[in-house]
Amino acid sequence: MIAGIGTDIVGVEDFERRLRRTAELKNFVFTPQEIAYCEAGRAPSVRFAARFAAKEALMKALGGGWDETASFKEIEIVNDESGKPSFRFHGRVAKRLSKDGTVAHLSLSHTDQYALAFAVVEK
Ligand SMILES: CC(C)(COP(=O)(O)OP(=O)(O)OC[C@H]1O[C@@H](n2cnc3c(N)ncnc32)[C@H](O)[C@@H]1OP(=O)(O)O)[C@@H](O)C(=O)NCCC(=O)NCCS
Repeated sequence: MIAGIGTDIVGVEDFERRLRRTAELKNFVFTPQEIAYCEAGRAPSVRFAARFAAKEALMKALGGGWDETASFKEIEIVNDESGKPSFRFHGRVAKRLSKDGTVAHLSLSHTDQYALAFAVVEK
């Protein structure tokens, strides 16, 4: 059954500015695979913003079940060969969600200005 939904919208220019201003932010939030995927694209900033939105959307979908001590990088966004995005969990988040039998779904959309993510959590 659906246990939660979450959505988040991120301003691309604003997020790009944050990444530029704080040098460590990119490596704090994104895995090496996410960085490689974003930077291989035509518009890396849009993809970074979308993945940040996805992580925030998942936290909303998990609601009170979210563990504040978990790190952003434990929630990774991967794309299959068709381009479809999904979550891949690591570390404490993976352990916790697999114990609960939680499955999460993700959809992303972006324009040059905004990136939007929608997450659904099932148990
Ligand atoms: C996939 C598709 C729906 C994306 O829509 P769009 O309006 O061009 O772009 P949006 O900004 O709304 O969405 C982009 C996001 O869609 C997601 N996406 C891409 N392919 C997808 C797919 N097959 N299924 C679900 N989501 C997909 C990705 O997350 C992408 O963002 P990312 O590159 O940062 O990960 C659109 O390209 C489409 O309908 N394509 C037809 C099928 C097709 O040509 N597939 C090509 C691969 S076989």
